[in-house]
Amino acid sequence: MRRKLAAGNWKMNGLKAELDQIDALKASHATPSVDLLLCPPATLVTSAAARLGDHPMMIGGQDCHMEHSGAYTGDISAPMLADAGARAVILGHSERREAHEESDEMIRAKASAAHRAGLITVICVGESLAQREAANTLDIIGGQLSASVPDNSTGENLVIAYEPIWAIGTGKVPTTDQIGEVHDFMRDRLERRFGAGVGRSTRLLYGGSVKPGNAAEIFAVSNVDGALVGGASLKAADFSPIIEAL
Ligand code: G3H
Repeated sequence: MRRKLAAGNWKMNGLKAELDQIDALKASHATPSVDLLLCPPATLVTSAAARLGDHPMMIGGQDCHMEHSGAYTGDISAPMLADAGARAVILGHSERREAHEESDEMIRAKASAAHRAGLITVICVGESLAQREAANTLDIIGGQLSASVPDNSTGENLVIAYEPIWAIGTGKVPTTDQIGEVHDFMRDRLERRFGAGVGRSTRLLYGGSVKPGNAAEIFAVSNVDGALVGGASLKAADFSPIIEAL
């Protein structure tokens, strides 16, 4: 049985003062019945992990380099993230695929490095509005899945987040049928590639304008095992009801 996962992506938001939100989440979810992951900016990973104490919430990064170390100014490696207290990393977010021209091959190499460092990877896939309107959604998702997910994935270290680009930060959300179609397709693809063990134990998150008001409906969809939440993860008052809806 897959354990549900509520993941928050703070993106490029948050100064030290915002770590108070972690205290609020800890207070509201002292013994959470679902897995929790919060991915603050890299500058806060160490202090966020320290702020957790013995709470089971995980802290994660938002990207990592595919190399272990070296002359890569400004980059952070997977072992560095792990050393800072991260237990997971988001990879292949559409904002990085677009703004940093990350290819599926780069994401696969980063994910492989993250797995070797003992991190859970949350690998993002998703179609643009033009791709959906051209009825290419499943082709795009299938291509991203096969090219971005590394062979050293297991049911424990792999999480996939389906994030339609047109739903991110827009307030637009696919219909539950559209979400279900993509999630069922991803489950099938993972089972075909990795077999039933990994395929059925990999958690599939939905991301894109998840809010307290729509979370329960989304979580009721087949093969949705949780959410990757952007804007609504910044404040514990918004993130908490989403966690409770899981
Ligand atoms: O990583 C999170 C997603 O990009 C969703 O962001 O919840 O602000 O739409 P959002």
